Amino acid sequence: MRIVLGITGGIAAYKAPQLVRLLVKAGHEVQCAATDHALQFVTRVSLETVSGRPLYNDLFSPANNRSTEHISLKDWGDALVVAPATANFIGKLANGIADDALSTLALAFCGKPIMICPAMNTQMWFAPPMQRNMGYLRSLPLLSVVGPEGGELACGTTGDGRMSEPETIAKAVEALFANPAMPLTGQRVLVTAGPTYERIDSVRFVGNYSSGNMGFALARSLAAHGAEVDLVSGPTHLDIDHPAVHLTRVESAREMYDVATALYPACQAAILSAAVADYRPEHTADHKLKKQSTDGLTLHMVQNPDILASLGASKRKGQTLIGFALETDNEEANASAKLQRKNLDYIVLNSLRDKGAGFGVDTNKVTIMGRDGSRLDSPLMSKQQVADLIVEHCLIHQQ
Ligand code: CTP
Repeated sequence: MRIVLGITGGIAAYKAPQLVRLLVKAGHEVQCAATDHALQFVTRVSLETVSGRPLYNDLFSPANNRSTEHISLKDWGDALVVAPATANFIGKLANGIADDALSTLALAFCGKPIMICPAMNTQMWFAPPMQRNMGYLRSLPLLSVVGPEGGELACGTTGDGRMSEPETIAKAVEALFANPAMPLTGQRVLVTAGPTYERIDSVRFVGNYSSGNMGFALARSLAAHGAEVDLVSGPTHLDIDHPAVHLTRVESAREMYDVATALYPACQAAILSAAVADYRPEHTADHKLKKQSTDGLTLHMVQNPDILASLGASKRKGQTLIGFALETDNEEANASAKLQRKNLDYIVLNSLRDKGAGFGVDTNKVTIMGRDGSRLDSPLMSKQQVADLIVEHCLIHQQ
């Protein structure tokens, strides 16, 4: 494959020649494109020597046949990998700014696979404008993100911000080429969404405020990445029109349980985002209950099956199971206990403390905790962006 390797001005640029070597060793052709600042950290000579091709650095170099080299390179390359990607580069790409050779090439590359490997100081990485830019970039279907990772940083502090090692990036490039546009092709994923309604009588129910937005966004994201999706939803006004999304509408927790447990064995992954009622009225009247006494009404509730726990109990090797947790106290400890108890691979913790996150709103802010102890905190994003983040983090980058 032909890879354009963009290098921007961070200390991790010194690792670029090593990455070029690994990619060349894996049989790829590599064309380096470095910014002026990158050349403060790594030399033109090293990059040209290891790649065996002249460096692309100047939009208007007399060496270029025409000043449209960025378009020729976009046509030539199968993928653009930017490592390291600085805050400045990410900010420019997220906002469509093209003011030098690499940012112009990167903008032209949109529509083909782009992989960015951020590297910067922790505070810069977590700065709200940075996370907003990343949120937008992650929502682009052909854009993937590798790292950054935690560890010691050049500024002497420790935290998230280190560029992933060249070996990790080279591996991610192979995964990208395995199926660049549709990394989930051939996979079947079960998604549960929305509330459940537990009937009291023929006209009344016990329910909750879940809109179904998160589950429908997950289904859209999975389908956009090539998966076949079985979406099982409780009552919601939402609809979805995608040939790869197979929607089954249910009403109660028991109906959702029956459909989900029947579909799960044929799936490679399941993401359970439904707000399932833990209890239902023990008796359901098939007619409308009449007012009977002035003392009030007592409903005796019995427990519903836990869909997530039973999928966890029947999980096969190779299946990935992702649950959600909505906690108000001891959030992380409770979520982590739920992850173990229900035999999950990931749990997505919804923050109820943050304004704009949770039920009935279009935005969300989550922490994704992995069975392996990994943890990813999202900024406040649209539910579609959160869905893309979950799909990329838990299913695509783990392949
Ligand atoms: N869930 C499920 N079936 C249930 C209850 C919950 O599949 N009967 C799933 C939800 O879809 C979600 C996860 O379990 O992915 C967490 O649900 P939550 O209500 O937060 O947790 P519970 O297991 O009900 O535990 P608790 O009420 O003690 O917090």
